[in-house]
Amino acid sequence: MSYQVLARKWRPKNFATLIGQEHVVRALSHALATGRLHHAWLFTGTRGVGKTTISRILAKALNCETGVTPEPCGTCAACRAIDADRFPDYVEMDAASNRGVEDMAALLDKAVYAPVQGRYKVYMIDEVHMLTGHAFNAMLKTLEEPPEHVKFILATTDPQKIPVTVLSRCLQFNLKQMPPGHIIDHLGGILEAEGVPFEAHALRHLAKAANGSMRDALSLLDQAIAHGSGRVEEEQVSHMLGTVGDDHLYAVLDALAAGDVAGMLAVADRMEARSLSFDAALQALASLLHRIALAQFAPAAIADETERQRLAPYSEAFDAEFLQLAYQIAIHGRDELSLAPDDYAGFTMSLLRLHAFRPEQPLALGSPDDAAGGGGRAGACHPRPPSGCEPRSTGDGTGGATRHGAGGKTTGGKGAPSGAAPTRTRDGRSRDRFVDAWPCGGSRRKSDRTVELRSAVGGSAAGSVCR
Ligand SMILES: Nc1ncnc2c1ncn2[C@@H]1O[C@H](COP(=O)(O)OP(=O)(O)OP(=O)(O)O)[C@@H](O)[C@H]1O
Ligand SMILES: [Mg+2]
Ligand SMILES: [Zn+2]
Repeated sequence: MSYQVLARKWRPKNFATLIGQEHVVRALSHALATGRLHHAWLFTGTRGVGKTTISRILAKALNCETGVTPEPCGTCAACRAIDADRFPDYVEMDAASNRGVEDMAALLDKAVYAPVQGRYKVYMIDEVHMLTGHAFNAMLKTLEEPPEHVKFILATTDPQKIPVTVLSRCLQFNLKQMPPGHIIDHLGGILEAEGVPFEAHALRHLAKAANGSMRDALSLLDQAIAHGSGRVEEEQVSHMLGTVGDDHLYAVLDALAAGDVAGMLAVADRMEARSLSFDAALQALASLLHRIALAQFAPAAIADETERQRLAPYSEAFDAEFLQLAYQIAIHGRDELSLAPDDYAGFTMSLLRLHAFRPEQPLALGSPDDAAGGGGRAGACHPRPPSGCEPRSTGDGTGGATRHGAGGKTTGGKGAPSGAAPTRTRDGRSRDRFVDAWPCGGSRRKSDRTVELRSAVGGSAAGSVCR
């Protein structure tokens, strides 16, 4: 038998095996079980999230020989014919290539006749937003009151382009993008069933590159299997994707936390030696900083336990404001790559900027707390947002900053145990003075801060900030 790509081979054949989209499955299952069936459904969502797949399951649910059911049998003639794409009463029309009013008229002419084999004639109009205005108008009346035996399923990646007259005649379901955790689990299950050896981290890269699309994830998986000659390994996959492995990024952050400029440059050199894209590296760095900030503010948003554990030391090490600034530096660094003398210079300049703007407590990640600072891991000198923060005081000679010690203890600030020294920036000034001078100083309004951050990242404020 000829090779079938994974996306087609593993297209879910029933609601139980569909990944995610629970809100849609629940509503459709209930309607099918109770017989309260609408005559037109609209599925919206980006590419490869299950629109066509759900449409086919729905067609089976309506036509299964066991009766209208949320659990089509999958073995009767109707179910098998729909799975094999040869059921006469299930018609998929691609509106991108059949846009005109004549195409719509031809479809509607046929719709009036009773089904040949099934219970219902199901018309699936894919990329429905591509229809012409005349074609939309031609279908309005039938869409409002179709014959008893006709059901419409419309699908689109661009619901904005659908006239409201059509929208109001349909039951609309927005399909969600696939979360990376779902993609990783699905790919892992498929590889196990296919007997293909794999490394879990490789799937993480694929899931990220798939950007929420299950089809893209499966296509990339096909490619990765071919690339790795029957194995899916992290190194091969990141090579194939041209992505910058997480190891490089974590190495950058380790060096940043330790104030080790040579270490940061060494990572850049390693990346250059492998011809990795510095643009992709800055993008991945921004994405990692975003995840770290999320781990600080809303740890529950990081669903993957392994990732949460890996991020934890960094969300301890960098304070919330610095992460905001670092993120800005990474995304602006991308913008500036085209202006840089070369990509290497642009990338390393961004790294140096991260270093220059770092409120420094030069201790390596995971090293014991320094006795004087009482809680100072690298950069952990300013309060992180989670619980236990006290308002920052000013001018009391202690520096006044509320600080988190290891294990979440709060030290410093007003009423702090005596002897808790103020956290210091590199030049020895108190942390508060640094924060006041820093463009994203905590006491300012958010909008001011954003503007100032931008200008700082653009360079204008750098002089006043880092000296
Ligand atoms: N929710 C899902 N669960 C499991 N697999 C899925 C899911 N969504 C998509 N897939 C996989 O991706 C493939 C393509 O999905 P589908 O054709 O349903 O996407 P689509 O939303 O119609 O995309 P497009 O807008 O590009 O037409 C399926 O064959 C299946 O392998
Ligand atoms: Mg589709
Ligand atoms: Zn059946």
